[in-house]
Amino acid sequence: MATLELGVLVSGNGSNLQAILDAVRSKQLDARIRLVVSNREQAYALERARAAGVSAVVCSHRGMPSREAYDEKLVSMLRDAGVEYVVLAGFMRILSPLFVRAFQGRVLNIHPALLPSFPGVNALGQALAHGVKVTGVTVHWVDDGVDTGPIIAQRAVPVLPGDDEASLGARVHAVEHELYVEVLRDLSEGQIPGPSAPKAG
Ligand code: GRF
Repeated sequence: MATLELGVLVSGNGSNLQAILDAVRSKQLDARIRLVVSNREQAYALERARAAGVSAVVCSHRGMPSREAYDEKLVSMLRDAGVEYVVLAGFMRILSPLFVRAFQGRVLNIHPALLPSFPGVNALGQALAHGVKVTGVTVHWVDDGVDTGPIIAQRAVPVLPGDDEASLGARVHAVEHELYVEVLRDLSEGQIPGPSAPKAG
């Protein structure tokens, strides 16, 4: 329906970014990646973006006076680039309410577990430590909490006997790449309603 104007925030490897870049290139996804921003200079995701001809910049949080000051800078970079939806793809920072309000209802995240189970860091390790037999992937809208926003889509991944973080992580990642692209495609086709407005009071 409408071309999505995306900004992607990353901190690391960027395999989810790669899946989105590939889907855009092969026209499976009607989107333009306006800007990729990493808070870490060494993030391989930056190379992936540049190799695809997409603008990629480092915005380091080091030396910033506050979380809000950093987030304000991020907001203005993304707005200046014409970003409509912000896609978190392994961005290892918690966004402040200031950022969430600036892109109200237009920030998505992917998490390697079936939320509300195992939020926060090391979701794979948490799942293995609990001995769950099924874990998975969640794509959700971002709100002010950590991995607490309204769920858009989930997909299960079985935990197999003998799994460790590497083997489970490989299967979870493969599912992430499919699910993120599917959700973005549905969004571009107008099939995903925005998150409901926060309750007053
Ligand atoms: C993914 O597992 C994602 O769910 C989590 O961070 C990881 C990022 O991986 N939020 P990559 O950088 O996209 O390879």
